Amino acid sequence: MKTWMPGILLPLAALFCAAPLFPQKEEDVKNPLEKDRAAMAAGKKLFAEACGTCHGTTGHGGRGPNLADGKIVQPAKNKQLFDSIRKGVAGTEMPPCSLEDEKIWQLVAFLRDMTANAFETEVPGDAAAGKALFFGKARCAECHMIRGQGGLMGPDLANIGLTRSVEKLREAILQPDAEVDPSFRGVTVVTVDGRKIEGVARNYSNYSIQVVDREGRLHLLERREWRELDWHKKSLMPDNYAQTLSSTEVQDLLAFLSRQSTGSVRRKEEQ
Ligand code: HEC
Ligand code: HEC
Repeated sequence: MKTWMPGILLPLAALFCAAPLFPQKEEDVKNPLEKDRAAMAAGKKLFAEACGTCHGTTGHGGRGPNLADGKIVQPAKNKQLFDSIRKGVAGTEMPPCSLEDEKIWQLVAFLRDMTANAFETEVPGDAAAGKALFFGKARCAECHMIRGQGGLMGPDLANIGLTRSVEKLREAILQPDAEVDPSFRGVTVVTVDGRKIEGVARNYSNYSIQVVDREGRLHLLERREWRELDWHKKSLMPDNYAQTLSSTEVQDLLAFLSRQSTGSVRRKEEQ
């Protein structure tokens, strides 16, 4: 019987022929200064001086793209980052630079540190104490939900460890006004009958607005029902945590938040 042969050979052929079609795993180079604290600090300073005119001193973008949000930096290999900085990006405003290798690796170390998500970062602090603060004294849960527990005025933080870097989390707690999420803008509405409603605006149009207040109540108002609409410039988040929390407490909160992840990535531990 010959008929068995194609049955066996075809899958084998598929195996051998298909293999080279898969992209070869490209070797990356290691950054000799990876995770080196001093190098990251030097890179941060250098970045502000040499790159800030286009990328913003904190990397949030301007003439050049945002490098702080991780969209460009996270998927890029070390080699690509190094080469882009050394040679520039042809056909764009990104210029070549004559910095020595060590300085470029400092910049790469800084870019990596800025964009690493908190979940993958070693975050010192006591996560259990951070959890107690979150749901207790620091009152974060009045506005934020984590796994179904908490308020609705601020964003749900159940996956925040995976989507933000430690630096971003620290900034969110200590300088909430530095960058306010436009989908959680604060608003104060004064109704024609004199009621004052404060909260975050959802679904605003010229004809109506929905406001979620501190108690989590949803107010639906039509244009003819309000007299004044005052958009807050600042975040609704308290801006005095730097004074009301000790640095240990902030660190404990960061340890707790950094562990928050949902979905397929396993939680570091049940917190
Ligand atoms: C004159 C403006 C300018 C300056 C100065 C500048 N950049 Fe850029 N940079 C850009 C622009 C524009 C792009 C987007 C290029 C593109 O469209 O791919 C870019 C892209 C990048 C990228 C992404 C490249 C890639 O591979 O996708 C990195 C990383 C970067 N810049 C880092 C730096 C660093 C570090 C410095 C300082 C040493 C710097 N840039 C200075 C304008 C600038
Ligand atoms: C009075 C309501 C309120 C309280 C209390 C509050 N927050 Fe917020 N928080 C908000 C709002 C609204 C936003 C979104 C607007 C902004 O970006 O500032 C926010 C944003 C954040 C973000 C950024 C989320 C993101 O997607 O990047 C983090 C992290 C955060 N808060 C953590 C905390 C922690 C930790 C506490 C307690 C120490 C806390 N918040 C207390 C209302 C609050």
